[in-house]
Amino acid sequence: MITDETGNILIIGGSSGIGLETGKTLCETGRSVTLVARSFDNKTDQERQAVQSLRQTFGNERCRLMQQDVAQLEKLEAFSKKVKEVSGPIDGLVFCAGAQKTLPLSMTKPGVLKELFTINTFSAIELVRLFSKAGYYREGASFVLLSSLAPHEASPGKAAYSASKAALEGFVCSASQELITKGIRLNAVAPGIVKTAMSEEFLNKMSPAQLQSLEASYPLGFGEPLDITWVIEFLLSQRSRWICGKTFLIDGGHLPGGK
Ligand SMILES: NC(=O)c1ccc[n+]([C@@H]2O[C@H](COP(=O)([O-])OP(=O)(O)OC[C@H]3O[C@@H](n4cnc5c(N)ncnc54)[C@H](OP(=O)(O)O)[C@@H]3O)[C@@H](O)[C@H]2O)c1
Repeated sequence: MITDETGNILIIGGSSGIGLETGKTLCETGRSVTLVARSFDNKTDQERQAVQSLRQTFGNERCRLMQQDVAQLEKLEAFSKKVKEVSGPIDGLVFCAGAQKTLPLSMTKPGVLKELFTINTFSAIELVRLFSKAGYYREGASFVLLSSLAPHEASPGKAAYSASKAALEGFVCSASQELITKGIRLNAVAPGIVKTAMSEEFLNKMSPAQLQSLEASYPLGFGEPLDITWVIEFLLSQRSRWICGKTFLIDGGHLPGGK
């Protein structure tokens, strides 16, 4: 059973942003992590140095790196076997990989939907399915999937992204009822805008006036990865032992109360 000091946590999307910050926090609080990404090289200097520093401080036993494109669904079974071989059964899964696109509905063709749903939804679901098989997890495990505020507010151009994350939240709600009988808790975290490579990409496309107005709608400002990491850390820990099947909206006061 996972405690606050130990545990073997698999972080999908661990080379940058929220996933990397989560890896750092989990190592610092005593866990062992396996960080997964397609690449650890094509990141900012700061992110590459952060990964290097984790490896130097905690060594290969506490901070492993694995390269895998998790959008290649047909390769995930072999990937899950490899993870089990290398690190043993997991105490936690954090799914932080994802992609977002801002497109008008007229351009939201099946190809775009397929691309977004594959990485944001299907890949997460397939990994939960594979790692909830006997021998792949330890009883008391906690799985946390990254959703988004997008399905909770109307946002033009975000229909496909929003739909992919709404599907993920629906999955969490129902699948958690099956997983709980195996001793696994499944929850989701839905952040508002957090300063990472992903948000930078669409914020950079805004006019100064649009950006100013968006920032003004966040009473506590845009988030930092650590603002989300601490919620994930809590959901992985036994302090959240009574929490299951829920999505937590974390948004610096952006949405009006009640949500
Ligand atoms: N930042 C925000 O404002 C925000 C708001 C709401 C929700 N979210 C959600 O939070 C999650 C993390 O976002 P972030 O901002 O931290 O993003 P990020 O900085 O872009 O990090 C994404 C991570 O996922 C990895 N990744 C992407 N595609 C992958 C693939 N096919 N296979 C394996 N790894 C893959 C990336 O590495 P590689 O590219 O090298 O593979 C990277 O490590 C996402 O699900 C996102 O939708 C973010």
